[in-house]
Amino acid sequence: MTFSTEISESLLSWYDKNARILPWRGIRDPYKTWVSEIMLQQTRVETVIPYFERFISRFPSLRDLAMADEAEVMKLWEGLGYYSRARNLLKGARQIMDQYQGILPEDPHLLRKISGIGSYTAGAIASIAYNVQVPAVDGNVLRVCSRLFGIRESIHIPHVRKKLEDAAAASVPAERPGDYNQALMDLGATVCTPGTPDCGHCPLSAFCSAFSDGDAESLPVIPGKAPQKTLRWTVPVLVSDGLALIRCRTETLLHGLWCFPMLDCSLEEIVSVLKKKYHLDACPAGSAVYARHVFTHLVWSMEILPMKAASCFPAPSDYLWVSAEELDKLAFPAAMNVPLQIARELLK
Ligand code: ADE
Repeated sequence: MTFSTEISESLLSWYDKNARILPWRGIRDPYKTWVSEIMLQQTRVETVIPYFERFISRFPSLRDLAMADEAEVMKLWEGLGYYSRARNLLKGARQIMDQYQGILPEDPHLLRKISGIGSYTAGAIASIAYNVQVPAVDGNVLRVCSRLFGIRESIHIPHVRKKLEDAAAASVPAERPGDYNQALMDLGATVCTPGTPDCGHCPLSAFCSAFSDGDAESLPVIPGKAPQKTLRWTVPVLVSDGLALIRCRTETLLHGLWCFPMLDCSLEEIVSVLKKKYHLDACPAGSAVYARHVFTHLVWSMEILPMKAASCFPAPSDYLWVSAEELDKLAFPAAMNVPLQIARELLK
């Protein structure tokens, strides 16, 4: 038996006993594999499960998704983050209807031409849904492979990354490539974890370079991350006549999602601008609430101000006055959970 056959056999027999039971497993439907893999990018399995189930029950087939309204897709994605994934999924579904009669291609090179599908997702779909012998290297798999194959240089260096991906590719067996890739993902999520891995329960410890050298905890080598920048926002939740003022984002971050106004001025300045510009009296309708939302490279630190105005002024462009029912129909990012809760209370 070759080294790589020993690895794949040990890992697959571990997977047969320990695979996580997940709603996108054990179904031979490339569309569902695709949806699950897009949702799982940068997102934990536990978070994805209810989103996947709601999404598939609303759009059971690729054809149903291709015919969907973008606002409805965004609403189903609400809270999952990285919203361009949802827009690309819809674009991709339409592309597959036009170019491939609604059936996802098997070839990873063709898959990569579909909107939102990169090398990882192409490998995952091809191997899981079509049994193609290709790797699917995500963050978990990078960690497992850097330890297993003893790759001790920064994974941000292109030739090191290539070495890792080549080693991962060479380890994928011809039989059950999709199960093998998912076994690596499960191993990375449950045993070969960041920080202190549970090498005592690892089916690959006998083959693992880091286990034999005792340096698993320091792998993979990831150079220092850029520090997170904090942006401070004043977020008035302004209601009047049973309506709340919201804004559709035009910025790249969370583009097209709805937020409450995000300003860099104080309560006094907001009140004075409303008075000067619209001859309108506005006042606090409760005490300020503080919330933070952490993105990958950015933190929003928000002072949320419940406010009431005597009447609605004409909404500036991008802004809208909406009722409680309309609030429920529009897509807001998770960063707006606290302001939304306040708005719902004020609109009662
Ligand atoms: N992470 C990404 N894809 C996955 C999958 N198919 N199973 C478990 N975790 C994953």
